[in-house]
Amino acid sequence: MFKRISALLLAGAVTMTMAGCGGGGDGGPGGSADDGKITMGFSQVGAESGWRTANTKSVQGAAAAAGVTLKFSDAQQKQENQIKAIRSYIQQKVDVIAFSPVVESGWDTVLKEAKNASIPVILTDRAVDSADTSLYKTFLGSDFVEEGRKAGTWLTEEFKDSKDPVNIVELQGTTGSAPANDRKAGFAEVIGADPKFKVIASQTGDFTRAKGKEVMEAFLKANPDIDVLYAHNDDMGLGAIEAIEGAGKVPGKDIKIITIDAVKDGMQALADGKISYIVECSPLLGPQLMDLAAKAVKGESIPARVVTEETTFTQEQAKEALPSRQY
Ligand code: AHR
Repeated sequence: MFKRISALLLAGAVTMTMAGCGGGGDGGPGGSADDGKITMGFSQVGAESGWRTANTKSVQGAAAAAGVTLKFSDAQQKQENQIKAIRSYIQQKVDVIAFSPVVESGWDTVLKEAKNASIPVILTDRAVDSADTSLYKTFLGSDFVEEGRKAGTWLTEEFKDSKDPVNIVELQGTTGSAPANDRKAGFAEVIGADPKFKVIASQTGDFTRAKGKEVMEAFLKANPDIDVLYAHNDDMGLGAIEAIEGAGKVPGKDIKIITIDAVKDGMQALADGKISYIVECSPLLGPQLMDLAAKAVKGESIPARVVTEETTFTQEQAKEALPSRQY
């Protein structure tokens, strides 16, 4: 690791005063990577979905390929665990911190601590709502509002000739998370233009398959006439499919299903006609993250926002894409 080698060299060859110059005394403010070795502290949300598993693999694989030493922690969907992990990375004087915030708010204090320690922070996958954008270097991830809009656009097109009301139930992601807030907003913005689209129930399924199933069961009991399910991720949609089948209905026919992510299991359900449309959200953020981290550590300028490129899938497109799907 850069820092220890650097500290030893400094101790042996240079004066104590110089060794003390480095905001922690081991490699300059927040550490620098003159020997090309970077240590990254990464706080992951958890392992709630297929998307998350693919994202973790991408980050770990890209770190190994780039020669970055990765300190990885899984927060099990809890903000307090992420704050603890970030504090521990600050204490360990890592060169750069990256994290995917479980919820949007409540980060200012710990981000200020990182800034005071001169450790650059990169937001990956999810945003924070801090007014002070100098608390992080960049945000790499999807445009979740746009994903919601894409889901809404497909729906309005699909039902454009229908004169009857369209009853929609919505399975939201984790309460307070950027993807849940933004996917809801983008979808509402598009369908709101036509009053025949009615969201008759909307509840969190916490991005998990088990919760998606449980909440969909409750939706089905309370609402006999559901036309459409909009699920903020594939996993909740897949759980809901089990609930729909359990209720003796045919997913994709009796109830159209729109999901977000495009992981293999979701794509298979789309190819099988159980899901009707998927908006892609790419978890393969690792290589871009390592690039941005290397630049941030060297003090090079990086864009404040890097938006992931994504597409959408119909049944035919899913069949075509499945054989080479990476996740
Ligand atoms: O933040 C990205 C979202 O988090 C994915 O859509 C979901 O599957 C994951 O849990």
